[in-house]
Amino acid sequence: TKAGYPHFMLKEIHEQPQGIRETLNRRLDENNQIMFDDINLDKSNIDSITNIYIIACGTAYNAGLQGKFALQKIAGIKADADIASEFRYSDPFIDENTLVILVSQSGETLDTLAALREAKSKGATTLAITNVIGSSIAREADNVIYTWAGPEIAVASTKAYTTQVVVFYMLALYLADIKENISKENYSHIVDELLAIPDKVQSIIETEEKIKKIAEKIKDNTNGFFLGRGLDYSIATEASLKMKEVAYMHTEAFASGELKHGTIALIEENVPVVAIATQDNLFEKSLSNIKEVKARGAYVIGVTQISNRTIEEVADEVIFIPETDDLIAGITAIVPLQLLAYYVSILRGLDVDKPRNLAKSVTVE
Ligand code: F6R
Repeated sequence: TKAGYPHFMLKEIHEQPQGIRETLNRRLDENNQIMFDDINLDKSNIDSITNIYIIACGTAYNAGLQGKFALQKIAGIKADADIASEFRYSDPFIDENTLVILVSQSGETLDTLAALREAKSKGATTLAITNVIGSSIAREADNVIYTWAGPEIAVASTKAYTTQVVVFYMLALYLADIKENISKENYSHIVDELLAIPDKVQSIIETEEKIKKIAEKIKDNTNGFFLGRGLDYSIATEASLKMKEVAYMHTEAFASGELKHGTIALIEENVPVVAIATQDNLFEKSLSNIKEVKARGAYVIGVTQISNRTIEEVADEVIFIPETDDLIAGITAIVPLQLLAYYVSILRGLDVDKPRNLAKSVTVE
């Protein structure tokens, strides 16, 4: 049931603090050490991993983009994310030293399942991140880490996504620890920051009215853009997908650095541009990108951490997210943008839980 909410999507956005908390708690021992004891990877297996492929479709792929960032930055292992339907036909370089991670809320997506079979046949070690116990992908993968988002009913994925990203961070920490790539202090610091995420997500959800007002301003636009650099670009990709699928607004996610290489030609008077700028080391660059699109008439909605107040001088609207370690800011930054897509959809009078032409589980190619 919708438990008093008008739509499943809104209910599921609101369930994220709980889902994230559960996903963390299931895997932390009393000393806040990450437990993946059931995962069949010992130190020698882990040391021999030369590269990781993350394979998924749609939103799960977008979670994989954050996963790539986490695995490379924290565990120091080369990681790539690929779309399942592309991966299968790309003659991927896979051998016994490759770890292939399949991400799937349902655990039934056909292309992801086929990629899993292909990876196994080439001798890779496989690991599934899924929300459905006993699903096909969970059964066939060598190892499984479950997300504990609870059943996701709305076609658009929200709580599965954030819990998938949380799993990637735990996995990155776990691998980093075994590879002795991380100090005890840094490990505990990131775990503590992860444990603080549910309350931060809750506080973002409580700013819903403000996000609804922003949705009112952009609801009649036919096009929109999401900009970001590094981790923020992967968030832009997911935010753009949400807006397309539930609000039918044609949006694109651009890597900010690519603007000048062609895409800035699309910026015109009053077009909404959501500029995601959570990373301190890239903040000045993001500000100058905002100025570039502002100068061409864009209506800029900035998304940043609370300390970055200067963004108010250049953006038309700012969505502030609570301060967190930059490394994991993607988990919080997506939440207001899920809400933005939800409200644009509602204001347009669309069927937000069942967008046209879409199915919850895609078991055909
Ligand atoms: C978008 C969405 C889809 C799914 C994709 C993969 O909101 O829900 O893009 O993420 O179809 O589905 P799973 O995760 O079940 O493999």
